[in-house]
Amino acid sequence: MTVESVSVVDHPLVKHHMARLRDAETPPAEFRQVVQRLSMLLAYEATQDLPVESVEVRTPLCTTGGHRLACRIGLVPILRAGLGMVDPMLDLIPDSEVWHLGLYRDEATARPVEYYSKLPPGKPVDVALVVDPMLATGGSATVALAALQRWGVPRTKLLSLIAAPEGIRAVRAKFPKTRVHVCAVDECLNDRKFIVPGLGDAGDRIFNTE
Ligand code: PRP
Repeated sequence: MTVESVSVVDHPLVKHHMARLRDAETPPAEFRQVVQRLSMLLAYEATQDLPVESVEVRTPLCTTGGHRLACRIGLVPILRAGLGMVDPMLDLIPDSEVWHLGLYRDEATARPVEYYSKLPPGKPVDVALVVDPMLATGGSATVALAALQRWGVPRTKLLSLIAAPEGIRAVRAKFPKTRVHVCAVDECLNDRKFIVPGLGDAGDRIFNTE
């Protein structure tokens, strides 16, 4: 992957937690925790360039300068698996809005099927952070990004824990301005369009529905 197309978080904690995430023996309760830890580390990296404005802060001793975020931020989890990434990100950005998008991959075609969207007419957020642990073919992510484009969101970022090169290329081809942030880029997709080596199905492992 070229530097322009994807940002991979290169950090010992990410590497450590990714091994637990991939392990088939990791039970759902721990899997959920690991998704949360990785989401926080990923969000920290992906929000480095958010705009801030100056504010005055009165400490117990005196008045000084400080900053606050200067944009409306939308967290956009792709159901279901994206839900696992929301809470840690809300902890980091408590004032963000959460806009859910329901998409699942048709098992026979691997094409995304949209089943839930309540994006309102007008008043789009300034920055949307689309969250989904898996970026496989990129079909779901591109449908989500297209919905945000129709809403009029000027700036979008995609945060995934694991991506296949195919998915990154698909997003880049349709949304070249959307920055993709991941914890790992895997080797490829298999004939069922699953990420290899991957971690299996993130939604099933988060919600214990395997
Ligand atoms: C998985 C995953 C992504 C999508 C990735 O969801 O969480 O949303 O597939 O694949 P793609 O890049 O090829 O579109 P899934 O369809 O399994 O739905 P779920 O989250 O409800 O389990």
